[in-house]
Amino acid sequence: MPRKDFKPLDARRFWTDAQELECTMILPEAPGVKTFCFKTTDDSWFKYFPGQFITIELPTPGEKLLRTYTLSSSPSRPLSIAITVKAQRGSLGSQWMLDHVQVGDRFRAYGPGGLFTFHNHPAEKYLFISAGSGITPMMSMTRWLYDDGAHTDITFVHAARRPSDIIFRAELERMAQRLPDLHISFVIEEDDPYVAWTGYRGRLSQLMLPLMAPDYLEREIFCCGPAPFMQEVRDILHSVGFDMEHYHEENFLAPVLAESEREEPDDVIPDEDSRAAVIFAASGVEAACRETDTVLAVAKAAGLNIPSACQFGVCGTCKVRKLSGEVHMVHNGGISDDDIASGHILACCSNPIGRVEVDV
Ligand code: FES
Repeated sequence: MPRKDFKPLDARRFWTDAQELECTMILPEAPGVKTFCFKTTDDSWFKYFPGQFITIELPTPGEKLLRTYTLSSSPSRPLSIAITVKAQRGSLGSQWMLDHVQVGDRFRAYGPGGLFTFHNHPAEKYLFISAGSGITPMMSMTRWLYDDGAHTDITFVHAARRPSDIIFRAELERMAQRLPDLHISFVIEEDDPYVAWTGYRGRLSQLMLPLMAPDYLEREIFCCGPAPFMQEVRDILHSVGFDMEHYHEENFLAPVLAESEREEPDDVIPDEDSRAAVIFAASGVEAACRETDTVLAVAKAAGLNIPSACQFGVCGTCKVRKLSGEVHMVHNGGISDDDIASGHILACCSNPIGRVEVDV
């Protein structure tokens, strides 16, 4: 709200982890989806790259949950930050947020961080492809480009179950009405009853993509959504010989798919039929498993606790020391090269290859 003591940005501090975030606004976006806006008590401003995330500590009954969310807000509007939360089936943290968080609640949070931003990949033309709540980093980048006040060519493709599930639909359409360089296409799986839908139907396919973006082979592609969706997108691109150097993805639903620093997906897949074992040396426990299990999952199944948050290789919470053996680790920036060189792994995104011993 307007204030007499309003200070311009250069008279304020910018937010660091040390300051709590206060929820100042909650906006409904779609069925089961809300945007939570945050400020700090001293009006700090927020410095980050569009597409980055924060990790937030949720005081749920019985335990504190750490959950990682992409910021849907844009750093071009730095007075507040926002996350847009959709509860996936079985989710604890997101459902708790949707059910309980009120304006005025305060939270510890960490970040912002992450590599998934087009500032790391300057290009003439972009193609954003998202599904479900994977739209949030794309929205952050699109809002930034809108505010940038210069022409940038973006094709924005989004997949949702029904038209009513399309998050940010009205805002995207309004931006596209004002920006001749922003082209949006939605694809839905089911109609809403009694509502006409004239867009694409079905699953995003090799036939559909060229209709949405005829020049998609020339575009820098950013993709975010459930793991199977991104696998389908990669399959489409592989099948047409797309140069995957220009493909970047972020996965917030499954821990085992890839985004390397160059965001080239690592499609090496551990063999489900191959037997493996994890030895938890400090606990004196040995657990047989498959190569496709993660060290974190094996620990949980064995009744051992490795602290974890994002569970997809971003936040670094689950870092443990490997004492011997090999893992196949596909992380998302949550561990440094130095840590890897000194024998550390992220348990949430490391698959044991044969017998592996960890210091847990
Ligand atoms: S839990 Fe975040 S990197 Fe493993």
